[in-house]
Amino acid sequence: AACLAVASARTFSKKALSTPLARGGGRIVGGTDAYPGEFPHQIMLTRGVGGSLMCGGSIVGSNKVITAGHCCDGMSASKLGVEVGSHNLYEDDPDQASFAVSDVGLHEDYDSWNINNDICMLTLEGSISMGSNVGTIGLPSSMEEYAEGTICTVSGWGTTTEGGSLARVLQKVDVPVVSDDHCRDSYGQADITDSMICAGLDQGGKDSCQGDSGGPFMCGNQLSGVVSWGYGCAEAGYPGVYTQTSYFVDWVNSHM
Ligand code: ARG
Repeated sequence: AACLAVASARTFSKKALSTPLARGGGRIVGGTDAYPGEFPHQIMLTRGVGGSLMCGGSIVGSNKVITAGHCCDGMSASKLGVEVGSHNLYEDDPDQASFAVSDVGLHEDYDSWNINNDICMLTLEGSISMGSNVGTIGLPSSMEEYAEGTICTVSGWGTTTEGGSLARVLQKVDVPVVSDDHCRDSYGQADITDSMICAGLDQGGKDSCQGDSGGPFMCGNQLSGVVSWGYGCAEAGYPGVYTQTSYFVDWVNSHM
């Protein structure tokens, strides 16, 4: 299992805890079904074109998708596929379309040990036809910060409980931002870098989980974060950790 069931607060390995679904390693926990077309930028990153779900991601340009670095790490373009316009995991949706990937742009400073700089830009073969159920999401302004308690939404087809099964319908859940200081109190001072953003309830119960990685974390109508890691899923006292996109605006623009 990707997520350790038992580990003490300061001795867990993030590496093990953040194993992507692809390697045996998240569904939104405590969420509800999204409306069809509610998150037109949401994509499925699949194992090959038309393959099974590996991670989530977001459309940011006609042939550009942002996902998590750990979803791209060690992957060649030929092993990946991107499905746009999906709502049901196991059924064909009207605006669904699959794309091959021509380039995997893993962040140059991605660190698989501390999961820092967990971001990747995929270039697709061909361009996406946009429509009411398929579209881009905008980036935040560079270095934008989010006050503790800001309500953000995260979406994906990841497991609905830790170690459970994937969601059949795209899920969404609202979670409040937890300050870096408070997040460091949970995970340890060195584990949370400034370019990470944490979110979750003190009592747990709502979170992203295995299979959601790479997917969108939205504070308003912008791609504020990318699903990255956490200790288990929806555990009390352990918020979900996201790549804070505002720290990567220049990087993203230079890869467009
Ligand atoms: N690493 C997981 C994945 O690959 C996502 C984990 C998110 N965990 C959390 N507790 N928010 O799908």
